[in-house]
Amino acid sequence: MTSCLVISSQYPIPGTETGRDYLNWSNEKPTLVFHCITFCYSVPPMSTTQMCCHVTTGSANACEKTSFVFLRQELPVRLANIMKEIDFLPDKLLSTPSLQLLQSWYETSLMELVGFLEKEPDDKKILKKFTETLVNIRNRHNNVVPTMAQGVVEYKDAFGSDPVTNQNVQYFLDRFYMSRISTRMIMNQHSLIFDGSANPAHPKHIGTIDPDCDVTEVVKDAFDSSKMLCEQYYLTSPEIDITQVNANGPDQPLRIVYVPSHLYHMLFELFKNAMRATVETHEMALHLPPVKVRVSLGSEDLTIKISDRGGGVPLRKIERLFSYMYSTAPSPVDIDNSRNAPLAGFGYGLPISRLYAKYFQGDLQLYSMEGYGTSAVIYLKSTRVCERLDILASVSRPLTSTELLLLVLRSSFTTGPYGEQHHAEVY
Ligand SMILES: Nc1ncnc2c1ncn2[C@@H]1O[C@H](COP(=O)(O)OP(=O)(O)OP(=O)(O)O)[C@@H](O)[C@H]1O
Ligand SMILES: [Mg+2]
Repeated sequence: MTSCLVISSQYPIPGTETGRDYLNWSNEKPTLVFHCITFCYSVPPMSTTQMCCHVTTGSANACEKTSFVFLRQELPVRLANIMKEIDFLPDKLLSTPSLQLLQSWYETSLMELVGFLEKEPDDKKILKKFTETLVNIRNRHNNVVPTMAQGVVEYKDAFGSDPVTNQNVQYFLDRFYMSRISTRMIMNQHSLIFDGSANPAHPKHIGTIDPDCDVTEVVKDAFDSSKMLCEQYYLTSPEIDITQVNANGPDQPLRIVYVPSHLYHMLFELFKNAMRATVETHEMALHLPPVKVRVSLGSEDLTIKISDRGGGVPLRKIERLFSYMYSTAPSPVDIDNSRNAPLAGFGYGLPISRLYAKYFQGDLQLYSMEGYGTSAVIYLKSTRVCERLDILASVSRPLTSTELLLLVLRSSFTTGPYGEQHHAEVY
């Protein structure tokens, strides 16, 4: 029960001195949220071997059932943890209309999920209802990122910002958005795999995961979308110059197991930044320097480097670019006006893309030469991956890519180390 003690210190027990915040919740919520949080440490990790045995012996219906039994507990744990963290935000931020709305989404979704805890997993109608509920929850939470961003902007406009607030908001938002990525990932896996319909455009995809993801294809796709946006905005755009290197076989396509929508999101954000910098720096030039992309596949890493000649950024400012409270673009006024998506806006492109990269054990780094240009590098694992959730509030355990692929999880675990089409998902 050591783990429960850890939880107690992070999430005070109702009725204790430090648990006062907890008691501010309505009658039902404290017990519910506490139950969900405590539960998360009652599931020990599972080895890959156990998982494989189960996969090969289980029937299709058994898969859906075990996934249901796992998710009806895991999802409330992940939601409850992040709700508790939201509750620790400054009152002035919490009282903004955006945060009030956002909290109401989380409360409704948690209640809906908890409604399945006592349900019969052998009942096919229940399984169907659960899948429908996941789809509803996912849709309800579609606008979480701009809504939270709007709340932060309102707070910043009303009360200003200082380095301590910046740091606290940064810490919270990294955890908050990572929680969202992970929760959506596992909800999507279940609903896409078990809704009974195949994806006609991508029949080989397993849920959101492409076991054979052609990285160069996603690069071109993201570049084309960004180019279209850039031309709408600036009436011009740079070209692309791609080089690819495959250490495993010179003329082989670069393929990895990955979530194409995540990869697309990161690339789209980096291309928008590179294009904006290029166009604004070479306003008077007849020809724009191309954006150079180098993709390389090794035995451990798949690396994508996007280099522009957009004038660069001084070293002193690099880390600031990953701040949720920093952007050199004018703040978008109407967040619902999705038809007129700007090339830059809230300043969330880099920090959220870095979270996507980190989610599967990768990273995103910027290297800049002020006066010349910037290189953004995405590092991904070229081999089997596992969720990286140390940025997150407690979860029962990170899921491996195989688990996310199959979402087949046993109800009893013993040993082992561990216990989301190409469209940007977030905006
Ligand atoms: N390649 C680049 N060259 C020069 N400056 C850059 C580059 N990439 C990012 N920046 C700077 O970093 C800031 C933050 O980038 P980020 O993508 O996070 O947000 P944004 O582009 O301002 O808004 P959005 O949320 O729409 O992406 C940008 O406003 C820009 O000043
Ligand atoms: Mg950007």
